[in-house]
Amino acid sequence: MKVLVVGGGGREHALCWKLKRSASVSEVVCVPGNPGIARDARCVPVAADDIEGLTELAQSEQPGLVVIGPEAPLVLGLADRLRASGFAVFGPDQAAAELEGSKSFSKQLMADADVPTARFEVHTVAELAEATIREWGAPIVVKASGLAAGKGVIVAYDVEEAVQAANDMLSGNSFGTAGSQVVIEECLIGEEASCLFLVSGDTILPLDSSQDHKALLDGDQGPNTGGMGAYSPAPCVTPEVAQTVLETIARPTINELAARGIEFIGTLYAGVMLTEDGPKTLEFNVRFGDPECQPLMSRLQSDLGEVLLAAAEKRLHGVQLDWDPRPALCVVVASDGYPEDFEKGQRIAGLDAVEAAGTTVFHAGTSLKDGEIVNSGGRVLGVTALASTVGAAQKTVYAALEHLDWPGGIYRKDIGYRAVARENGE
Ligand code: AMP
Ligand code: GLY
Repeated sequence: MKVLVVGGGGREHALCWKLKRSASVSEVVCVPGNPGIARDARCVPVAADDIEGLTELAQSEQPGLVVIGPEAPLVLGLADRLRASGFAVFGPDQAAAELEGSKSFSKQLMADADVPTARFEVHTVAELAEATIREWGAPIVVKASGLAAGKGVIVAYDVEEAVQAANDMLSGNSFGTAGSQVVIEECLIGEEASCLFLVSGDTILPLDSSQDHKALLDGDQGPNTGGMGAYSPAPCVTPEVAQTVLETIARPTINELAARGIEFIGTLYAGVMLTEDGPKTLEFNVRFGDPECQPLMSRLQSDLGEVLLAAAEKRLHGVQLDWDPRPALCVVVASDGYPEDFEKGQRIAGLDAVEAAGTTVFHAGTSLKDGEIVNSGGRVLGVTALASTVGAAQKTVYAALEHLDWPGGIYRKDIGYRAVARENGE
């Protein structure tokens, strides 16, 4: 089977890498891909949000399966278009993608379905948002309702900061139209985990757990990013917690969508906070996590092509996933300056040596310039290793990173610290 993968980030590299190693897959084509993905797939330069261009490409390539990686084309309705043309597609239709595309939609749906989540209000008028913030007090969370690449969330520890964030969003200054509605939320306290499910109609198949680190700096300090590292499994997600998330979060959400006539085929990603009162939903995404996908694909032993095709064709019932019991850990190397501005086109060397030291380097924001790999995005590399413990995987990755020759690359030095502390009995 030929598989067409849409996207060109670290998540899509991990998907292409795994698909290439799937017995059911004869060829992987990726749009637009990147120089790392080019090792595992034939890359075609069509932008991941060019719905017309992607539909034409699918018509000419005639893949047996299309896997849509990022949220943007899902929210723009790429899956609807391709399904209407008869393709088997892994990725939800536009209506279901609203779970990620609109935080106000997803919060309202959770309220209607009694899914545990933070108390919230949706506002479009700055004065009303401010009144709520002052009434509730800090800490408090302010979110742009629309898509903002993981950056549209401000966890404010003082009221003035929250008011400022809401004003910036609603005036259109900070997140454009994504901020024309804001969600004000109660601040939840606890440990976060990423609980992903393959969903196809009625069938909900949990993936093993993972945890990412959204903050830019060590010790979970600094601004939120798309994710600076991840590992799987996350020890805080015990079998009981996983079952609770399935029963109280994933199942009622999919049922509520179904009650509204919306079918979900793809990955449901529940970002959950494990609070004293049990797991509560922070957000839904409608795709694999990035970087969670990198450790997850490193551990998955099942034939990914077969599993995603079964989901696309609504045959997921009875499918089982096999996992390498060893944990995997991924450290993201970003361009210095991310999540704000950074200089593009810096030469990145030493990648072969990083891999020779026992890792797989998944590429995200890289491109080729004069035959050399250079940075072209904020998050650039996902250096990933499997080992007998999270601590050992962490050691392998950080030792390998010593070989990276890119002075403008930055990374956190503490990815996986919670799991390592648990392993050490702390
Ligand atoms: P989201 O994109 O909604 O997941 O938010 C990004 C990050 O902001 C989450 O991973 C959390 O670290 C933090 N966050 C979001 N909502 C809340 C909340 N209600 N309470 C505490 N932290 C939150
Ligand atoms: N790592 C967080 C996300 O994929 O949204």
